[in-house]
Amino acid sequence: MKKMYKVLGLASLLAFGQSAVAQQTYEFTLDTKKVGSPIQSTMYGLFFEDINFGADGGLYAELVKNRSFDFPQELMGWYTFGKVEVRKDNPPFDKNPNYMVLSNPGHEHKHTGIENEGFRGMGFKKDATYRFSVWAKKVNTTEDQKIRVEFINPKDEIIGSQELVINSSDWQKHQVILTAKEAEEKGRLRIFLASKGAIAVDHVSLFPTDTYKGRENGLRKDLAQALTDITPGIFRFPGGCIVEGTDLDTRYDWKKTIGPVENRPVNENRWHYTFPHRFFPDYYQSYGLGFYEYFLLSEDMGAEPLPVLSCGLACQFQNEDQHAHVPVSDLAPYIQDALDLIEFANGPVTSTWGKVRADMGHPEPFNLKFIGIGNEQWGEEYPEHLAPFVKEIRAKYPDMKIVGSSGPSADGKQFDYLWPEMKRLKVDLVDEHYYKEPDWFYKNAARYDNYDRKGPAVFAGEYASHDHSTGKQNNFLSALSEAAFMTGLERNADIVHMCTYAPLFAHVDAWQWCPDMIWFDNLRMMKTPNYYVQQLYAQNKGTNTMTLLWPDKKAVTGQESLYASAVYDKGQNCYIVKVANTGTEAKNVKVTLTGTKKNATFTVGDCIVIKNNNLKVINTLDTPTNIIPEKTTAVMEGNILNIQTQSQSFGVYKIKL
Ligand code: AHR
Repeated sequence: MKKMYKVLGLASLLAFGQSAVAQQTYEFTLDTKKVGSPIQSTMYGLFFEDINFGADGGLYAELVKNRSFDFPQELMGWYTFGKVEVRKDNPPFDKNPNYMVLSNPGHEHKHTGIENEGFRGMGFKKDATYRFSVWAKKVNTTEDQKIRVEFINPKDEIIGSQELVINSSDWQKHQVILTAKEAEEKGRLRIFLASKGAIAVDHVSLFPTDTYKGRENGLRKDLAQALTDITPGIFRFPGGCIVEGTDLDTRYDWKKTIGPVENRPVNENRWHYTFPHRFFPDYYQSYGLGFYEYFLLSEDMGAEPLPVLSCGLACQFQNEDQHAHVPVSDLAPYIQDALDLIEFANGPVTSTWGKVRADMGHPEPFNLKFIGIGNEQWGEEYPEHLAPFVKEIRAKYPDMKIVGSSGPSADGKQFDYLWPEMKRLKVDLVDEHYYKEPDWFYKNAARYDNYDRKGPAVFAGEYASHDHSTGKQNNFLSALSEAAFMTGLERNADIVHMCTYAPLFAHVDAWQWCPDMIWFDNLRMMKTPNYYVQQLYAQNKGTNTMTLLWPDKKAVTGQESLYASAVYDKGQNCYIVKVANTGTEAKNVKVTLTGTKKNATFTVGDCIVIKNNNLKVINTLDTPTNIIPEKTTAVMEGNILNIQTQSQSFGVYKIKL
């Protein structure tokens, strides 16, 4: 069987400095007469969830943890000195009622103040500027009051300082810009009462001025830029399990995440306690990065937004008791939330929710086309809950594409039950999740080749290759196996309309789940090899599928350790061939373009490869370029593309017409 694909044992010199060895040549055909199905613009995208401190402490650029003193442990994240008191009488923001009063400590040589530890410290960049803001008022005094705001490093040295006058007896927002004199990854923010009276403070905030797109309630620039650089076509948010909630009270409720940031109520983050061996009691959601900001980010990145909403089922992993869920008869407010969200995104400024969006600064609609109902749901209760959503959404918004779930696994009882149910309910896409060993990804490169073409389309909404032997590191093996598997997603782009790696972000000092696509600390970030694989696909997705076959007309799905697919790109007028060679030997691959016109000429365009002889190699924050894509070459002889694929490599090769 093996021999069938080998054409000749040719002696050839390997490129890239490898020694002379005999190489096998493998021949594929690319039939240029058969331009296949359109590839959706949404094909490759991003899935974001606030896990691993991905939002607060991560993408959301706020540096202060528990900025409104409304964590259940109201002083979590804060150190206090002198005379301080947390109060909640007549608060400026009713949904975050706590505030802090700082009073004269009673002796000239004593001090009152507060200090915030940030998210595993605060990152300050040398000479960068930061916007400190606080809602404050003077208390029981007509004298103007003053605070001194300081950046502190771990040696307790002051590396930035400014004063701010609090001159109003009513709550007002005050702000001042500070410059960091030194770079510091583990800094702190200290606030002294620098006058003799008393003040009340709330919503104490610190942002870099240099955020993504320069927005005040903005995103960390390096992280948001890394997302944009993928060129995602779809952006799924806000989760993941946090959509569901450990109980329904703590589910993600989008209406609590819009409007003035000061009045978005703090919610617990379930990842604070999901894994007791990675326990993070200070993990809460400020919702400063809420649905409005998610829509904005989608727009900035050029990706279609895909919000996912609770279907009234609390996390089924955590709740066997049916009473944890909303009975179908009581689903009306949940369904209304979905309808209102569509109005918030798309409604005219004269509509109730369209006006809310306009008042937040975006009168133009966000042009929402997709909505997910439920995350990893299962059992009969899921279709029962989903059905009324589908009915009501279809009635009011017939063009809205609805995404249903196939449960938490790639196969098995729930999966086999849910797919027919999703067909019955006529959802538009079915979300599949698979976190599996590299070998599973290799073996499943043909997973979609025989899927039913008449049912809903596939959304591979969460997937990642988990190399358990290395503690699930983001090593090259995981990336290569994903690259090989993704040739199957691409080949089946007629029914696979979206795919998103998961999870997206992880703080190196505060992660719950690995592997993750991008790792960061408070100053730096590192793109994993998995990131680059996603990027290579997204940047070379093409507009139409093409068939790339072995001589026996079979697809290239792992025979001889080769995986390959091809697309046509209308805009660039080129074919793009992708080849993963997962074996330990270099291999010659010849791709013959068939059905071409007699006088047609073809040239090789940009070719890029990601490779490594060591499958266990990883990128780190200190060595972020161990594995990065590199330019490579291929040779066009008439209508034959000759590629010398290196062992353990994934390459993208363009043929220009
Ligand atoms: O991506 C991490 C988690 O994996 C998601 O929250 C959930 O949907 C899945 O179980």
